Amino acid sequence: MKRYLDCNATCPPVQAALEAVAKAALEAPGNPSSLHWAGRAARRIVDDGRDQLAAFVGCESGSVVFTSGGTEANNIAIHSVLASLQSGSVVCTAIEHPAVLKPLSQLKGDCFEIIQVRPNSDGMVSAESMIAAITDDTRLVCMMMVNNESGAIQPVQEVAAFCRARGITMLVDAVQALGKSSLNFQQLDIDFMSLSAHKIGGPKGVGALLVRRGMKLHELTPGGGQERKRRSGTENVPGIAGFAAALGQIDFTTFAPIRDSFEQQLKNQIPTVRIISEQTARTANTSLFILPGMDGETLLMQLDLAGFAVASGSACSSGKREASHVLLAMGVNDATARSSVRVSFGPGNTMDDADALVKALVKSRQRLRGMAGLVTE
Ligand SMILES: Cc1ncc(COP(=O)(O)O)c(C=O)c1O
Repeated sequence: MKRYLDCNATCPPVQAALEAVAKAALEAPGNPSSLHWAGRAARRIVDDGRDQLAAFVGCESGSVVFTSGGTEANNIAIHSVLASLQSGSVVCTAIEHPAVLKPLSQLKGDCFEIIQVRPNSDGMVSAESMIAAITDDTRLVCMMMVNNESGAIQPVQEVAAFCRARGITMLVDAVQALGKSSLNFQQLDIDFMSLSAHKIGGPKGVGALLVRRGMKLHELTPGGGQERKRRSGTENVPGIAGFAAALGQIDFTTFAPIRDSFEQQLKNQIPTVRIISEQTARTANTSLFILPGMDGETLLMQLDLAGFAVASGSACSSGKREASHVLLAMGVNDATARSSVRVSFGPGNTMDDADALVKALVKSRQRLRGMAGLVTE
C-alpha cells in the first residue's frame, strides 16, 4: 500500500484545482495578451485568479505578480532590492529556504554583508535577535513565516513592524504558511511576500510575489512586459486557474490529531526520539524528528520500500548528502542532523497512516540496528 506523507515537499493536487486547470486549458486556449475572444477568455482567467488570490491573502489585486513558484518570487524580490546595491547589509534568518539563501549569496559579491540570524534550539528565530542584527545600513530583511523542515512559525509580525517604522524593505517567504497559518499581506505591512501553489494542492510551477504598491521590480527575464512589466513571459493560464481554485481547499490545521497521535506513539515506542520544535508554535501537519544513531536517508529508503513517502531533512535538497542547514543552525551536530526524518501530513491521511508509519519506523530501525550489530531495545 502506498502512503504519501510528504506534503511540505508538495501537496497532491486537489480535485477543484485539477478541474480548473483542465477547464482553463480547454476553454481558454488563447494567449492572455491577444485581443481576440480566445485571448480575452484567457485574460479573464488570469484577472479572476489575481482577484481571488488577493482576496484570500489580504492585498490589492495590483500587488499580485504571478510567477513560476516560490523560488522565482523570492529571486525577483531579492534581485529587485539588491541588483543595484553598492553597500549595506542584508539580515535574514539562518533557516531560510535555499530559494532565499542562494540568491543572496550569489548577489553578495563584495558589495554588501549578509547577516544570518540563528534560531534557538527549538527552531524559532526571535524577533529580538532579528531586530538586534538590523542597523542603519540594513537594506533588506528576509524572514520566512513558517520553516519548511520543522514547521516552526516565526515571529514575522514584530519584525515587520520594526522594519516598517524604519522604512527597511522586508521580504517574507510565506510558501509554507499558506493554508497552514494565518496570513494577511496588508496586516503584515511588508514589501514582498512569496507564495507557491503546489504546497496547497494547486499545480506545480505556479506561484506569486505580492508586492507593496510603489515598489519597483527588477525583471529577471525581460521580455514582453506581462504582469504590468514586472514579470515577462506568457502567463501560465491553467496554472493560475488551478492556484486560485486550490485556495482554501485544504485546512492543514485539521491534521493536528493525526500528527500528535503519530508523535505520541513514536515517543512510546522509541523513547530516545527527539521531536524538533515541539516546544514552539509550529504548523499542525509537520513532524520533524531525530532518531539517534540512525541515518535519515537510509531510513527514508527503507520506508520507501514499505510504501511510505517521507523526507529526510529538507525535501528540496533531497538527493544531496548534506546535513540540514536548519538543524545545524539550531545547534544540532552534523551526525545527529543526518538522523532526521520529516513527516508532513495532508489530504487523504488518516490515523491509520500514523499508526502504520510508527510500526514501519520501529521495524526499519530494528532491522538497521540488527544489521549494525546493535542490540534492539
Ligand atoms: C519555504 C519555501 N520557500 C520556497 C520554496 C520554493 O517554492 P517552489 O517550489 O514553488 O519554487 C519552498 C519549497 O519547498 C519552500 O518550502
